[in-house]
Amino acid sequence: MRAGGRRTAIVSAPDRKRILFIDDEEQITSALESRLHRYRDQWELVFLNNSQEAVAYAAEHDLDTVITDIRMPGLDGYGVVARLREMPRHVSTPIIVLTGNAEADQKRRALDAGADDLLNKPVLTEDLVARLQSALRIKEQQDQLRDANRLLEARVDERTRELANSRLDIILRLARAAEYRDEDTGFHIVRVGLYAKVLAEGLGLPPDLADQLILAAPLHDVGKIGVPDSILLARRRLTEDEWVIMRAHASIGHGILTEASPIMAAFATARGQTGEPPDRNPLIQCAASIALTHHEKFDGSGYPRGLSGEAIPIEGRIAALADVFDALSSERPYKPAFPESQVLDILRAGCGSHFDPGVYAAFERVADTFRQIRAHYTDAAPDGERIDC
Ligand SMILES: [Fe+2]
Ligand SMILES: [Fe+2]
Repeated sequence: MRAGGRRTAIVSAPDRKRILFIDDEEQITSALESRLHRYRDQWELVFLNNSQEAVAYAAEHDLDTVITDIRMPGLDGYGVVARLREMPRHVSTPIIVLTGNAEADQKRRALDAGADDLLNKPVLTEDLVARLQSALRIKEQQDQLRDANRLLEARVDERTRELANSRLDIILRLARAAEYRDEDTGFHIVRVGLYAKVLAEGLGLPPDLADQLILAAPLHDVGKIGVPDSILLARRRLTEDEWVIMRAHASIGHGILTEASPIMAAFATARGQTGEPPDRNPLIQCAASIALTHHEKFDGSGYPRGLSGEAIPIEGRIAALADVFDALSSERPYKPAFPESQVLDILRAGCGSHFDPGVYAAFERVADTFRQIRAHYTDAAPDGERIDC
């Protein structure tokens, strides 16, 4: 088959190994074409006389071997080899360079440019065929190796995804367990996670951190697992002593997510793990930080440590606003869902005292997205809830 350009030809055979010949002399490519004619059933032979055109062709096609002349007008053989090696699809495509018999310097330059093999001109058909077969075998092995690696990578990716999914599932079930004892808060933890993400985006924080908050923020009240029912489920004003216990949920949650325990040590031993325990993953570290600091207030009047300003980690400052927004705008047994204007008034009043002004400013910027999240994740029939933000 003939292709466009100056004296070019393609001898096509579908699903055959594709070999590209580049030589500016038409009589050479014509001779090669007729000498290799009987291999056309096995090989798709592409002959191009214009080296620029050949490079453009190579950019668009997978090739199993390239054979190129050195001395050509415009782009010479060294340039062709260099350009092909710059193309990801031809980083390892076998390239054979046709050189003059005694031109040692040419040969060295061709190898330096990235050629794999050299053939002296004039070349015997048998030598050419033998060299092509060898190059094609190498290419086939490379392709098999590449395919095997891709398969392996796909399997590893799949396992990694499975592991990540099961870990995330466990994290969310832990959050759900904490909520379950306390309140049937519907989608509270989902909304808090999404609000936290949107606030982080509004603050221009790294996307990784924003994504992490979707799953870390829902664990903010995991420490309520450690608060007695008589306090956690009380439908009355708590005494000051009971509030002390209630407020301990922040530290308890932090402890659950950070402290090494004899149980974990026993499991590690049972599984044959020795030495230091592995570092906790960033998601759990972020969740632990939120559990500890989501009741801190910007002016230092919060708990458990009375941190103020930027001493409160950003994830804690974000979770504080996300949690309060959701508590105010959701229906609870002892209160209706406040109208949006009232929620906004309360948040505005808390700017600089309860909330980080920067986080509050981000909230104002992303308020529309908050509305969308609230509209999408509405609670069907909440019961048994109490606000304690
Ligand atoms: Fe809390
Ligand atoms: Fe909450």
